[in-house]
Amino acid sequence: MDRSSENILIVDDEPENIRLLGQLLAARGYQIHVAESGEQALTAFETLSREVRLDLILLDVLMPNGLDGIETCRRLKQQDSTRTLPVIFLTAKEDHATIVRAFEAGGADYVLKPFETDVLLARVRAHLTLGRLSHDLESALDERSRQLRVANRELRRANDRLRRLAMEVSLIEEREKRRLAGELHDSPMQKLNLAQMQIASAARCRDSESDRLLEVGQELMREALQELRTLQFELSPPVLYQGGLGAALGWFARYKTKRFGVELHYVESPTLPAIETDLAVVLFQSARELVYNLIKHSGASRGRIELGGDLESICVSVDDDGRGFAPVALDGLTSGEGGYGLFGVRERLSLWGGELDIETKAQGARVTIRVPSTMRTGR
Ligand SMILES: Nc1ncnc2c1ncn2[C@@H]1O[C@H](COP(=O)(O)OP(=O)(O)OP(=O)(O)O)[C@@H](O)[C@H]1O
Ligand SMILES: [Mg+2]
Repeated sequence: MDRSSENILIVDDEPENIRLLGQLLAARGYQIHVAESGEQALTAFETLSREVRLDLILLDVLMPNGLDGIETCRRLKQQDSTRTLPVIFLTAKEDHATIVRAFEAGGADYVLKPFETDVLLARVRAHLTLGRLSHDLESALDERSRQLRVANRELRRANDRLRRLAMEVSLIEEREKRRLAGELHDSPMQKLNLAQMQIASAARCRDSESDRLLEVGQELMREALQELRTLQFELSPPVLYQGGLGAALGWFARYKTKRFGVELHYVESPTLPAIETDLAVVLFQSARELVYNLIKHSGASRGRIELGGDLESICVSVDDDGRGFAPVALDGLTSGEGGYGLFGVRERLSLWGGELDIETKAQGARVTIRVPSTMRTGR
């Protein structure tokens, strides 16, 4: 085996010991470096490590002038670069306490002087092999951690892109609904209006039977018109774009009260800052989901939509006096049992740096969504 690439540092205050040990190891092909004190060993290590990779230290314990072997080892082990470097103590000191201190200081082995040459060489070989293996393992671990960090960064980026996409999709969906609502208003509803007027004027010049039929037709048309108008508003309330978030939420509360018999109140804070349209759309969509949930799941007879905010944040909360629910219900999505509603709200809000909070009250639940007033999505 070629040992010329294996570097051993011998530290001993007796030049004669260094000479004997050096000869023994050099004869086996190892590269030998020497230091005659603990202090010299520390500096020698610094200088040597710039040129070679040190593989093992043979360290005398008793060195009366300056640092002893145990203290030298302790200092070496405090440095990251030498933490895994094997140190074999060589000493004539045989007492139990010194051996324990030597291992506590980070020593890998302890050999008593005078030593058997074969035993010492076997231990040197064993620790060189172990050291090399642990060095290789550490490099492999470093490389694996680096790859994991890269993969993690990629994953976070992909996640971010996905959430932005989800936001885009929800805004595209809202714009599409708005377009459809406009088309509903402009074409079929206008035609129905016109047809209703035509029928009304035809009814004035007919006999009593055809009058009755025309009246039924006219009534059906009135109902169809009303339903179309409701659908148009459900799809995209024009009031959101004309009057802003507060006006849209107020309209929504009144409309749902009439439609479902749940008494919904709308309250607004006087300190509300201006809210840009995209954010108003996101907040309206989110509040709409909370109200749908209130109607679908809570069994409440009363509810309240509150819009508050200041220069720091804007929040919408929906309160009910129903059965309440634990935030754990949100885990339903991952277990495959729950819906998408609250999960979707959370995702959309996170793009605006916002969050959703569920509180269970003595009776009912309060769900709050909060978004920083100054947050921009950077789109
Ligand atoms: N106000 C509420 N009162 C009682 N339970 C509620 C309330 N809001 C939500 N929940 C519970 O939380 C669960 C999750 O709501 P989420 O909106 O995520 O899904 P969903 O309403 O069941 O389905 P989807 O919204 O997809 O139509 C609901 O299934 C329900 O059990
Ligand atoms: Mg829902």
